[in-house]
Amino acid sequence: MEAAPSSEIITLTRHVLHDQMRLGAAATGDLTLLLTAIQVTSKFIATNVRKARLINLIGVAGDTNVSGDEQKKLDVLSNDIMVNSLRASGRTAVLVSEELEDAIIIEEKNRGRYCVVFDPLDGSSNIDAGVNIGTIFGIYKVLSDSKCSVEDVLRPGSEMVAAGYTMYGSSANLVLSTGSGVNGYTLDAALGEFILTHPDIQIPPRGKIYSFNEGNSISIKYPASGKPYSARYIGSMVADVHRTLLYGGIFGYPDDKKSKSGKLRLLYEAFPMAFLTEQASSTFKAGGIATTGTKRILDIVPKSIHERCSVFLGSKEDVQDLMKFYTPAK
Ligand code: AHG
Ligand code: MN
Ligand code: MN
Ligand code: MN
Repeated sequence: MEAAPSSEIITLTRHVLHDQMRLGAAATGDLTLLLTAIQVTSKFIATNVRKARLINLIGVAGDTNVSGDEQKKLDVLSNDIMVNSLRASGRTAVLVSEELEDAIIIEEKNRGRYCVVFDPLDGSSNIDAGVNIGTIFGIYKVLSDSKCSVEDVLRPGSEMVAAGYTMYGSSANLVLSTGSGVNGYTLDAALGEFILTHPDIQIPPRGKIYSFNEGNSISIKYPASGKPYSARYIGSMVADVHRTLLYGGIFGYPDDKKSKSGKLRLLYEAFPMAFLTEQASSTFKAGGIATTGTKRILDIVPKSIHERCSVFLGSKEDVQDLMKFYTPAK
């Protein structure tokens, strides 16, 4: 006999509220309100991504951002959606976006206690082809002696209180960690709600997939076991990391002769994804690892808001195999 359709759904808001109630008096509700604002931005961006081809949202905006990327119309729109919503939430103090050269210091009347670093639209080279893209975010609480400046975000990723991403694919998936595991939610477009569909995501300790830009992968393609990996590289970090969290394996974007510090940005790409990778393995003793090759990513202290770093992340055993190539010669 077939199981009856479920009448019990857990929305992201309900789940986060439940988490907050567990914390009792220690929680003020500000983080829940901030996460509600972020959810709304993801729904708003998702609907624009869906309509992009129909409403002339495909193509370039005409400017270049501080990383040297040509900005697409969707990069600019997604950035504006996030800045407006985060400012209006009244819960933020400092905002850092890939698309803005300087940090935004929120004016006093709208100021809250959280800082959000974000990549409004990740994988923008994939927009025109309709391939998965996403939004990445990381959240810090302001320093106790905060002067409300970039100092509040020039801190190791291990100090983030939450991190996540939304992937705009065949469905919109929001994956979030507030520091006690990782949960995934799928947007039910009819309800307009993110529904818990992937509770307690765990990275398998060993995977079968490697995900590198081919030119940089020569030393890791053939592991000692002799079994070749399957290559999967989408070119949107959100989508490549999403698959890595669910299926296992290794994703990487190393430094090379041209890009001495790699390509991915530390604050709003590497940190949130490293945070999720480590959190997705909290009950697995053999957990996920996120490293530059020699150093835990979450331990890096950023010197500037757009700095870059090498990234390798995924299943523990696969990343450990890779790290052997980076051990300094004795
Ligand atoms: P963004 O679109 O936010 O600038 O990020 C692009 C990043 C990331 O999504 C992806 O992992 C990587 O660039 C792909 O780079 P290559 O095309 O060099 O492989
Ligand atoms: Mn870019
Ligand atoms: Mn990106
Ligand atoms: Mn981007």
